Amino acid sequence: MPTTTWNRHHVLSLADFTTAEYDTVLQTAASFQEVLSRRTKKVPTLQGQVVANLFFESSTRTRSSFEIAAKRLSADTLNFAAATSSMTKGETILDTAKTYLAMGTDIMVIRHREAGVPNAIAAEMDRLGVRVSVLNAGDGQHEHPSQALLDLFTISTLIDPANPRLKLLKGKKIAIVGDILHSRVARSNIWSLIATGAQVHLAAPPTLLPKLFAEYFSEESGDRSQESLVISPSSPSPQLFLHWQLEPALQDADFVMTLRLQKERMTAHLLPSLREYHQLFGITRAKLQLCKPNVKVLHPGPVNRGVEISSDLMDDPEFSLIQSQVTSGVAVRMALLYLLGSGKA
Ligand code: NCD
Repeated sequence: MPTTTWNRHHVLSLADFTTAEYDTVLQTAASFQEVLSRRTKKVPTLQGQVVANLFFESSTRTRSSFEIAAKRLSADTLNFAAATSSMTKGETILDTAKTYLAMGTDIMVIRHREAGVPNAIAAEMDRLGVRVSVLNAGDGQHEHPSQALLDLFTISTLIDPANPRLKLLKGKKIAIVGDILHSRVARSNIWSLIATGAQVHLAAPPTLLPKLFAEYFSEESGDRSQESLVISPSSPSPQLFLHWQLEPALQDADFVMTLRLQKERMTAHLLPSLREYHQLFGITRAKLQLCKPNVKVLHPGPVNRGVEISSDLMDDPEFSLIQSQVTSGVAVRMALLYLLGSGKA
């Protein structure tokens, strides 16, 4: 295991992650990736510790990935699903968390459809003076740190499998395409990708961009449909770009991250039709011609096949990193649980 010190007690957001922390996660995940390739895929690192997965919102891969990661580290796991819990009898979120605390939980992995719930539980644990760590597994439209870290790991191990590190992405062009407005994955990825020194190009229809950005492109400001917005243009090498068209984002891109249309979070009719969306922003082989020849495509899943990405492209191992993202997820979550849990022994 890397020897770098780790002082973080909760992982709630990537906004304040340091280069050393990113590299520690990447290197620790690489050692666990090696463990996962052995015949015996289990290590005793978190023996005796309890990891509780408190998922107040639906999930397939994130919940299962945290569960298998905890099990590979020999922790005891508790799985909570809101629909079958005492919350249906009126129990509050904090009381639910305290119930798990009373059972000896060491790490709480929390997903909730409201932004800020993991932070609130972490604050309560700190107030109580207990050594419970909280890991944000996705909160509303806010952040999804473990997803962005596994995306970072997937890309950097593709470039250098033996030694993944932040620096490997410097200067790469990465397009993030789709429902940026509702995406916690995009928010966490913007933090981590900017930290690498990559150029991050966001592309979406204005209705799927955060309000401030959308206003820039709105008709009242004149027709800017062909323009792009450079965030912090005065910096010597700007890193964040916004486009209302897909093409400038894809031009010479090294990686394309597609995002699911989060229909469950849409309160208004934000799109004329899924067909039109696919035509304009759906990623297809033909559109990838604009990118670098060895471009790779990522998607956090679950995928609306044929909407944000064409079905054949999704299954094409020459371009698609989707399965490798899921595999990386286990090693990265083992790394996070290990880094949070190893101080508790
Ligand atoms: C993402 C999520 O839940 O935010 N999925 C995931 O964790 N793998 C993205 C999504 O739901 O579209």
